[in-house]
Amino acid sequence: MKRVAITGANRGIGLEMVKQLSANGDEILACIRSPETAVSLEGLKGVSVAVVDVTDPASCEEAATAFGPLDLLVCNAGQYRVRGRMDDPAYTPDNWAEVLATNVSGAFFTTRAFLPFLAKPGGKIAIISSRMGSNTDSVSGGSYIYRASKAAATNLASNLAIDLKQDGVAVGAFHPGHVGTDMGGETAPVTPADSAAGLLNQFHALSLETTGTYAEYNGNKLSY
Ligand SMILES: NC(=O)c1ccc[n+]([C@@H]2O[C@H](COP(=O)([O-])OP(=O)(O)OC[C@H]3O[C@@H](n4cnc5c(N)ncnc54)[C@H](OP(=O)(O)O)[C@@H]3O)[C@@H](O)[C@H]2O)c1
Repeated sequence: MKRVAITGANRGIGLEMVKQLSANGDEILACIRSPETAVSLEGLKGVSVAVVDVTDPASCEEAATAFGPLDLLVCNAGQYRVRGRMDDPAYTPDNWAEVLATNVSGAFFTTRAFLPFLAKPGGKIAIISSRMGSNTDSVSGGSYIYRASKAAATNLASNLAIDLKQDGVAVGAFHPGHVGTDMGGETAPVTPADSAAGLLNQFHALSLETTGTYAEYNGNKLSY
């Protein structure tokens, strides 16, 4: 992969991707929201750290400019917040705004900031979406904000794939599995290590022939 930037890199799937890329000898920009969470990245070879809140375009631009050329951007930062049905009182305007700002426009601002530095041709962008954003593969209901946000994140990836094909940049939307992180919960069936390894394989396989793909960490194709 060579030079990779990852948002939401201080914990969960993002941290695990950083660890595996570091072990592979790649250079990684680990983008974290709060400086004090950098402790989880201490001692990792080839890792530099930038403070990036994806809802703040200026912080994305500052990090992208400081890191310079890159081969892969992973928009991984995400929030879930409300899991209930329609009557869940947590469906507030603030929760809607914060989750959409992170999962959708956050991925947009991150991509816009790093795009000038992405290899052309040959660069890649991975948007970490979810199967819960699929209109056809998601069957359980509820989680209105999160599902809507991930449907939009997948749409962002397919839209970018069209625009960036002419520059030789491949874009995909990916479902990491149901993973045992703070978001996925302790009983989730997929470990962060297996999810990260699978995702990195998918990013490696992503090409201009497959740009616009929407796939799971294990390669299963998803439909929009
Ligand atoms: N876990 C699952 O089962 C699962 C399933 C499908 C999709 N996903 C997706 O996979 C991605 C990673 O999930 P995860 O399970 O690793 O989640 P997680 O453990 O909850 O970690 C979320 C990460 O996103 C960061 N983040 C949140 N808001 C941010 C913002 N505004 N700016 C920058 N960073 C922000 C968090 O930083 P702080 O530590 O500062 O809060 C944290 O590093 C997310 O996009 C998620 O939606 C996860």
